[in-house]
Amino acid sequence: MNENTHNLYDAVLKRRSVYSLKNEIPVSEERLIEIIQYAVKHTPSAFNMQSARVALLLGVNHKKLWDMVKNILKHIVPEQNFAATEQKINSFAAGYATILFFNDTNVIEKMQAKFAAYKENFPIWAEQSAGMLQYLIWTAFASQGIGANLQHYNPLIDEEVCKQFDIARSWRLVAQMPFGTPAANAGAKDFLPIEELVKIKR
Ligand SMILES: Cc1cc2nc3c(=O)[nH]c(=O)nc-3n(C[C@H](O)[C@H](O)[C@H](O)COP(=O)(O)O)c2cc1C
Repeated sequence: MNENTHNLYDAVLKRRSVYSLKNEIPVSEERLIEIIQYAVKHTPSAFNMQSARVALLLGVNHKKLWDMVKNILKHIVPEQNFAATEQKINSFAAGYATILFFNDTNVIEKMQAKFAAYKENFPIWAEQSAGMLQYLIWTAFASQGIGANLQHYNPLIDEEVCKQFDIARSWRLVAQMPFGTPAANAGAKDFLPIEELVKIKR
């Protein structure tokens, strides 16, 4: 394994779902933004359609998001279960910031009109590309000592997110990623036998 491979393997291993987050990051805000922009720019997409969109919520906007999620869930989660929900939301709010991941439906619709034979595929390909982007940012963060986890309060919060953060409704929310310096390590993880997952045919 050469040094480059070693760095990649190291980052892949470090990337975990980190739920215990501090309201700080071990890099500057400029570096943070650079990582996000770099990942968005270089993540592949079908036909290079570049349908992925991101909003980085810093400071009061980060807090506003999780307050909003809490308020929406209050009307939905049974009262006796709400304390646990609130605790979970508070753990996300305790982080430094949140990335909102979107797919631009205008782009997807244009591609569907242009390449009618692949009409059904574009929304699926957009999701796949969004997943690649999430993974790239998550892994790049890990390599910089930033912990993150992945949440899906969409579509429950979609309308309010667009309203509060002045985002076009054509941007469809895909995922939310709260992050910050890890306050605790991720727990142990089970793995299925690799031979069941990967077939080598010689
Ligand atoms: C597509 C996808 C969706 C996920 N959704 C959630 C989620 O909504 N909430 C959550 O806490 N974790 C979510 N996760 C995190 C997984 O539970 C986690 O990645 C998995 O258990 C492996 O643990 P690790 O991330 O520490 O390696 C999601 C992961 C993926 C890849």
